[in-house]
Order: sequence, then C-alpha cells, then structure tokens
Amino acid sequence: MRVRPMTIAIDGPAASGKSTVGEALAERLDYLYFDTGVMYRAVTWAALERGVRVEDEEAVTKLAEALEIEVTDATDDDGRQYTVLADCVDVTWEIRRPEVDANVSAVSAYGGVRHALVAKQRRIAAGEPVVMVGRDIGTVVLPEADLKIFLDASVEERARRRWLENRERGKDPDRAAVLDAMRRRDRIDSNREISPLRAAVDAVRIDTTAMSIHAVVDEAERLVRERDCP
Ligand code: C5P
Repeated sequence: MRVRPMTIAIDGPAASGKSTVGEALAERLDYLYFDTGVMYRAVTWAALERGVRVEDEEAVTKLAEALEIEVTDATDDDGRQYTVLADCVDVTWEIRRPEVDANVSAVSAYGGVRHALVAKQRRIAAGEPVVMVGRDIGTVVLPEADLKIFLDASVEERARRRWLENRERGKDPDRAAVLDAMRRRDRIDSNREISPLRAAVDAVRIDTTAMSIHAVVDEAERLVRERDCP
C-alpha cells in the first residue's frame, strides 16, 4: 500500500522559488518546513562577525561544529518566515546581508562544514514529517526522501526575483550586480567538489521561469497527492 510521502526534498539554485514553495507546501500538508540554507548562512555570518577568516577552513569548520543554530516560528511580525538564532542571537535578517551572500558559497564548499551541518539536518528530518529545502537534500542529506523535487528557472529570471525581493526590503540594488552575483554563486555551488548542486536522478524537475508561485505549489501538492494512498 502506498502512503503519503513523509519526507519531501526540494532542491534548486538560488531564487528558484524553493523557500516560498517549500513553506507553502509544508503549510498545506501541515509538515515542518526547514530551509537548510539558513545554516550555511548562520555559519558564514558568525565567521564574519567574529573575525574568523573565511579562507581558514579549519577555523570555519570548528565554528560550524560548535555553533548552536536554532530555527523557530517567527518571533516578530516584520515579514520574516521564521526566526533564526545563532548562539541565541537573532540573525534572521543579518544572514541575508550582501556580505553573507558573497561568502556563503565558499563556506559551504568545506567538507567539514557540510559534515557538521548535514548531521544536524538529518536529526531534524528524523523527528517529524518535513519539507526540507536546499541544494543537496535529495542527493546527500535525505537520499531516501519519499518525494524529491528540483526547481529551476533561468538565471535572468532568478536575478530579477532577487532584485525585486531586495527592493521590497527597501534597498535599491544594481540589477547587473545582482545578476553577476547570482551567476557567481551558481558557478561555485555547481562546481564544488563536495555535494555540488545537482538534481537527484529520481527528482521531479519543475522549470518555474514562466510559472506563478501558486502554480508551482499546486504542482508540488499534486505530486504529493499522486503518491498518496488511493
Ligand atoms: O538557499 P540559500 O540561498 O539561502 O543558500 C545559501 C547558500 O548556502 C547557497 O548558495 C549554497 O552555497 C549553500 N547551501 C548549500 N547546501 C544547502 C543549502 C545551502 O551548500 N543544502
């Protein structure tokens, strides 16, 4: 007998719609939503904040092993999806700063950092039904996930979404710079030696370039229901 998928992995490049779709899908199913990107971002933020050189693999790895990262329901009504605490400091917005964007791919390429964070992610996923979002969830973190979705969109469309997001937060970023940063991050994430960004062979690919978020969530939910008990 088929049972409803309990672990759902959503992977894809930056601004492919993973977080918005993941959160909406988790809400419809009443599952835990967990965005693994915040963990890599929190470690990057802590390194910058504490003066640990991002090039120092050993020091950054120690930091990743020791840092207490907690994700809770939103504690403030300021547009956040959730609250992220790093050693008890609220870093929800800090981890979205451009300095973190610029350094997070380097930090997440370190094997020791990934090892430490993947272990934490697996513990979280073991606890309850989950929609887990990231770059390597279907391939490495939860290779046995019941449903794997890989979201993609053209780099121009993803840069446009990121630019709009920044504007909505009151910033006025240069469009060309956002596109350049997106290309750079794609290149590092896809070419790194350990756990590069890849769709799992058994993932369902959705190209979201010309789709509304609502349509993508509907499609993801349809994939869940299709695998559900008859
Ligand atoms: O998804 P988000 O853009 O917040 O992720 C930030 C960075 O964290 C990515 O560019 C990637 O380098 C890293 N990451 C990762 N593996 C994950 C999630 C994020 O390497 N599972």
